[in-house]
Amino acid sequence: MSASGVFGEVWSAGWSFMLALRSRGLGSSMTTIHLGGESEVAQLLGIPEGVSQAGLIPVGWFRGDDFKPANRHPLHEVAFYENWGNSKPAR
Ligand SMILES: Cc1cc2nc3c(=O)[nH]c(=O)nc-3n(C[C@H](O)[C@H](O)[C@H](O)COP(=O)(O)O)c2cc1C
Repeated sequence: MSASGVFGEVWSAGWSFMLALRSRGLGSSMTTIHLGGESEVAQLLGIPEGVSQAGLIPVGWFRGDDFKPANRHPLHEVAFYENWGNSKPAR
C-alpha cells in the first residue's frame, strides 16, 4: 500500500477522534512537526522500537467560544472533476 493510503487511513481515524473530542468540549490539532525528533519522542513516551509514528494529536479544553470558519481556497481551486482543472461536471 502506498504511503498515502496508509497515512490517509490514519488521519481519517484521527479526524473522527477530533470530531468526537469537539462534541465533548475538547479542542485538538493534527501535528507532525515532532516527527523530526521521532526517536526522542518514542523514548519520552515509551513507544517500542519498530512502531512508526504517524502524527500527534494534542488535546485540551479550549477557552472561549469564538470559533469561526477558517479561510480556505475556493473549492474550484483545490478539487477537480474527471480531469485536472475541471471544476464542474459537464452537463
Ligand atoms: C497531517 C497534518 C499534520 C499537521 N502537522 C502540523 C504541525 O506539526 N504543526 C502545525 O502547526 N500544524 C500542523 N498541521 C496543521 C494544523 O493541524 C491545522 O490544520 C492548522 O493549524 C490550520 O488549522 P485550520 O485547519 O483550523 O485552519 C497539520 C495538518 C495536517 C493535516
